[in-house]
Amino acid sequence: MNSVIVVDDLHKSYKPKTKGQSIEVKAVDGISFKVDKGEFFGLLGPNGAGKTTTIGILTTRVLPTGGRATIDGIDVARQPVEVKRRIGVASGE
Ligand SMILES: Nc1ncnc2c1ncn2[C@@H]1O[C@H](COP(=O)(O)OP(=O)(O)OP(=O)(O)O)[C@@H](O)[C@H]1O
Ligand SMILES: [Mg+2]
Repeated sequence: MNSVIVVDDLHKSYKPKTKGQSIEVKAVDGISFKVDKGEFFGLLGPNGAGKTTTIGILTTRVLPTGGRATIDGIDVARQPVEVKRRIGVASGE
């Protein structure tokens, strides 16, 4: 397999926690991309575009509400422990 990261129609919606509010935030609204082995990949977009949410899903800290993402063929939502064995994260913060 050449693609190490595969993101397929990924969605993440945040539901409001307080009652009376009915606004659902679509943080990630159906993105798809692949990153091949050895490739440097930049995820660019304006503030609020969903970059941090997408990275959160790929690093197993955020659960997607739709679509699928795999690292090395392993589903990040279904097998987070197996994914974490294979990744390293250097956060900007
Ligand atoms: N935990 C959360 N609960 C509710 N809404 C959230 C949450 N996290 C992010 N959002 C919303 O989801 C959208 C995407 O946010 P996200 O932080 O992923 O964007 P970003 O591309 O990383 O933005 P920035 O460039 O400002 O870092 C924004 O509208 C944000 O307000
Ligand atoms: Mg961000």
